[in-house]
Amino acid sequence: MSNSRKKLLAELNKDLEWEYAAAIQYVQHAATITGAKFDSIQKELLIHAQEEMQHAAMLSEQIDFLGGTPTVDVEKREISDNSVEMLQQDLAGEDNAITRYRERISQAETLKEYGLRRVLEDILIQEEEHKRDIANVLAN
Ligand SMILES: [Fe+2]
Ligand SMILES: [Fe+2]
Repeated sequence: MSNSRKKLLAELNKDLEWEYAAAIQYVQHAATITGAKFDSIQKELLIHAQEEMQHAAMLSEQIDFLGGTPTVDVEKREISDNSVEMLQQDLAGEDNAITRYRERISQAETLKEYGLRRVLEDILIQEEEHKRDIANVLAN
């Protein structure tokens, strides 16, 4: 396997760790966020959690398809007892995801892995939606 392919697989596995972390973090935040103005985002955070798990499944399938072994490790989760701070943590997570997937799409493109690129683009679109959902609440 070429070095650039190995590097791509290593980064995809790191993306996968971040997806698991995001799913766990969203479940915890949805359960503990308080305040009437956060009622609708609370439901949205649970939807995000499910979508992050779908991303994890999509990445795992792609990693296996490319000849790697999908990780079961989990990246760092952030918690807070302050609702606004929780949403800031979630926003930072989405920014991180968007940055990482932009890089990954470019790597997939270079390696002519167009199927992978398509999957990553679908994930990126959802991360941008997640970011918008949270940014809208924080702006109010
Ligand atoms: Fe995700
Ligand atoms: Fe997300």
